[in-house]
Amino acid sequence: MTLDGPFEPVTRRFDPSLRSGSDDLLMENPWLKKNVTSSFPEQISLALSTDPSSTWVSWVTIGKNVTPLDPSSVASEVWYGTGSGKYASQQDGKSTVPFRWLLNYSSGIIHHVRLEGLEPGTTYYFKCGDSSVPAMSDEYSFKTMPSPSPNAYPSRIAVIGDLGLTSNSSTTIDHVIKNDPALVLMVGDLTYANQYLTTGGQGASCFSCSFPNAPIRETYQPRWDGWGRFMEPLTSRVPMMVIEGNHEIEPQVNGITFQSYLTRFAVPSEESRSNSSFYYSFNAGGAHFIMLGAYVDYNITGTQYSWLVDDLHRVNRSLTPWVVAAWHPPWYNSYNSHYQEFECMRQEMEALLYQYKVDIVFNGHVHAYERMNRVYNYTLDPCGPVYITVGDGGNIEKVDVDFADDPGKCPKPDDNKPEFGGLCHLNFTSGPAKGKFCWSKQPEWSAYRESSFGHGILEVVNSTYALWTWHRNQDAYKEDKPGDQIFIVRQPELCSPTTKETSNPPQGARASDPASPSSTVILSSKTMWLMSLLVALFGIVVR
Ligand SMILES: [Fe+2]
Repeated sequence: MTLDGPFEPVTRRFDPSLRSGSDDLLMENPWLKKNVTSSFPEQISLALSTDPSSTWVSWVTIGKNVTPLDPSSVASEVWYGTGSGKYASQQDGKSTVPFRWLLNYSSGIIHHVRLEGLEPGTTYYFKCGDSSVPAMSDEYSFKTMPSPSPNAYPSRIAVIGDLGLTSNSSTTIDHVIKNDPALVLMVGDLTYANQYLTTGGQGASCFSCSFPNAPIRETYQPRWDGWGRFMEPLTSRVPMMVIEGNHEIEPQVNGITFQSYLTRFAVPSEESRSNSSFYYSFNAGGAHFIMLGAYVDYNITGTQYSWLVDDLHRVNRSLTPWVVAAWHPPWYNSYNSHYQEFECMRQEMEALLYQYKVDIVFNGHVHAYERMNRVYNYTLDPCGPVYITVGDGGNIEKVDVDFADDPGKCPKPDDNKPEFGGLCHLNFTSGPAKGKFCWSKQPEWSAYRESSFGHGILEVVNSTYALWTWHRNQDAYKEDKPGDQIFIVRQPELCSPTTKETSNPPQGARASDPASPSSTVILSSKTMWLMSLLVALFGIVVR
C-alpha cells in the first residue's frame, strides 16, 4: 500500500517476445463494419452527467449512401424505464452532422440525448432511435452511479489510454470487458483516426492516407465510425468518460480542430459549469472526477484554471472524499518519449491540485505503464497525488521502451515539443540529478515502470482505501495475475489544512514559488512519513 512508500524504483523491461505494436484493424473487419440497416442507431454509447440523476445516450445514424445527411431527418428519441420492455419515460435530444465541407465521406447524423430524473444505483432499460421510421434500437441497459456518499462507490473503474484500433486494442478491450467495469475513463488519444487524415500535400505523416491527393487536410470519419462500432459492446452498457488527447486535435482547413471529439462525445460540461467539452467534472458515488484539457489554455490567467479553482472549491469531501484528476500528457514521466513535454502545464496547475489534496492523477500519452511515488514539485511528498500513466491501450504507434535515464537516451530539450503550449524544461535543482535535465538512474519519484500494453482498474473500497490494479495484455487469456497492484491510502488528517475550511485559491501561485501551497503544509515530509508508519503499525487493517 502507499503507506509503505516511498518505494525503491523498480523497472521491468520490455519482453521482446511480445508484440511491441500491431497493425490497424481493417475497415472490412466485422467489428468495424456497419452492423445495422440504414437509419437504425449504431455506435451506441453512454456517458455520465455530473450526478446520477442524469445520463447521456449517444448514437450515430448513417444513411444508405454516405453523403451528408440532414440532422433533422432522423429524430433523437430514447425510451427508458426500470423494467425490461417497459419504457415509462421518453426523452428527445439533439442531432448534428459535422464535417459537411469535407471532400471525402462526412460523418453520419450524431445524436445526443440526456436522460433526466433517474434514480441512483438503479438499472434502466432503454431503446434509442426514431420511432416514426420506425427505427428503434434493440434494448440495452445500464446502471446509474450511486449518490455521492463516502460509503458508496462504483464497483470497478477501468482506466484506458491511447487505445487506437489495432489487434492490441482489441485485446485490451476484451480484457476490460472481462474485468466488468461499472465506469470507463478514457484518458485521451482514442481512435488514431487522425493517422488517416488526407495530407493535402502538406507532407503530414499518415499511416494510410485514403485521399492523398485531396487539396486540403481532412479528418477521416470512417475510422471514427469503425471505432464507435468496435467500442459499442462496452459503451452501450457502461458509461465512458473521455478527455481529449493530441490525436483528437485533427487540424483541418481554416484552422478547424477537435471536431470529431467535440461532436461525437457527450460530456457533462454544462452540468459541471465548465461550458467546455475540453474540461469538466462529475461524481461517481464518493469519488469526484476532474477531467482537464492539456491542449487548451491551462494557464493561471485562463478560464480553465478559474473553473478548476471553483470546481475544487465546491467539492464537499464529506460526500466525495476521493478526488481523482485525469488528463492526457503526464507531468511525471521517466520515459524518453514525451519527457518533460508538459512541464509548462505542471508549473501552472500542480500547486492548485496539491493544495486541494487531489488523491490520484491518471494520464496517457506515453505508450507504457508508470506509477509514481507520492510526489509534489519533483520532491517525494506524502501529501502529493499518486500519478499513474496508462497510455498503454495498444495503438498503432508501438509501446515505448526507452527511458530518459538510459545511457544516451536523455532527450534534447526540444525533442519533445508539445502540440500546445511552450517549452518549460527544467534541470533538477536538488538530489542525484542536481543541475541535470535527466537522471542517471530511475528517478526516486518513479515507483514502478514497465513497457507493456494493458489497462488499469480502480476499486474504491471506502473513504480511505482504493485498490489499483494494472492488467497487462499478455495476461488476458491466462491466469490474470496483476502486472502491478497497490492500495492507495488517503490520509487527509496528515495533510492539513483541510480543503473546505481553508480554501483560499492559490491564484498566481506556482509550484516553484516560495509562497506556493507547499508552505501551508504544517508538518514536514519526514514527520508525516513517520506518522504514516505509526498509523500503519498501530492497527489499520486493510484486507
Ligand atoms: Fe498522445
